[in-house]
Amino acid sequence: MAHRWTNDLTRADATPYDAFLNRRQVMGGALGLGLIGAAGMARAQRAPLEPNSYEDITQYNNYYEFGTGKGDPARNAHTLTTDPWTVVIDGMVDNPGDYSMAQIMDAMTIEERIYRFRCVEAWSMVIPWNGFELADLLNLAGVQEGGKYVAFETALRPDEMPGVRFPVLDWPYVEGLRLDEAMHPLTIMATGIYDKPIPNQNGAPMRLVVPWKYGFKSIKSIVRITVTDQEPPTSWNKANGREYGFYSNVNPEVDHPRWSQASERPVGGGLFAKRKPTLMFNGYEAEVASLYDGMDLRANY
Ligand code: MTE
Repeated sequence: MAHRWTNDLTRADATPYDAFLNRRQVMGGALGLGLIGAAGMARAQRAPLEPNSYEDITQYNNYYEFGTGKGDPARNAHTLTTDPWTVVIDGMVDNPGDYSMAQIMDAMTIEERIYRFRCVEAWSMVIPWNGFELADLLNLAGVQEGGKYVAFETALRPDEMPGVRFPVLDWPYVEGLRLDEAMHPLTIMATGIYDKPIPNQNGAPMRLVVPWKYGFKSIKSIVRITVTDQEPPTSWNKANGREYGFYSNVNPEVDHPRWSQASERPVGGGLFAKRKPTLMFNGYEAEVASLYDGMDLRANY
């Protein structure tokens, strides 16, 4: 598989915030011209913070198929059978079909990506994911001319998912990206956390991670990926279109109708942890702002 950079982020790699910002500015100009080497690109998205603990990441979750409380997924998701697992890849692709998780893992190169993660509810974490670029999987399937969007679907298993008895959302959970967002090198399918297989409550065996978008775009336990020419429906947009749009890019200047998005509460900092300012595109502006050139980000929330 082609790799756009080797990931050189390590847990000992925390960068002072000023240095981080300066580097991002330098990167901003050069990126579009393709002048950035592999290592430089990785450094540009280097987290200024240490990752959250394994416990924070795996005990404080949103996975409504297992309940709406933050501790419910960790308590309930052990009932999900994740092996064997099959992902249907269909729609506008050259090689549609059932891909077993084993087949996917064989074909993909797993690397570590330490990303900021910002929930629309205004809490945040830093998570050391293991995974592969979604682009590599889409290239394996062969995206056809005319494909414009990618739709994703979570498993729907009433016997294994106690939360789907409740009509909190219109099950199964569905999400979507524009094709260029899906093909962006920052967009990954996560299969691990802290070098361990991803726990069920975090979306085993494979979940999406789009670090510049609110967390609800990061759909868990994916069973279907469809390339299409239509903007796909998304669960939270269907539930409340006024509050949750298709794009859902992290943007401190566009508030949620019921709360401010200007700042966030880092999870794990203790009861008196200070809120910190939310960064445009969650800190990945240099890498992704060009995807939205000329677009009204207030209208396309
Ligand atoms: N995917 C499914 N299938 N069901 C969900 O309820 N919740 C979303 C997203 N993916 C959700 C989902 C939301 S709101 C967030 S913030 C993230 O998962 C949380 O991911 P985490 O629990 O790994 O931190």
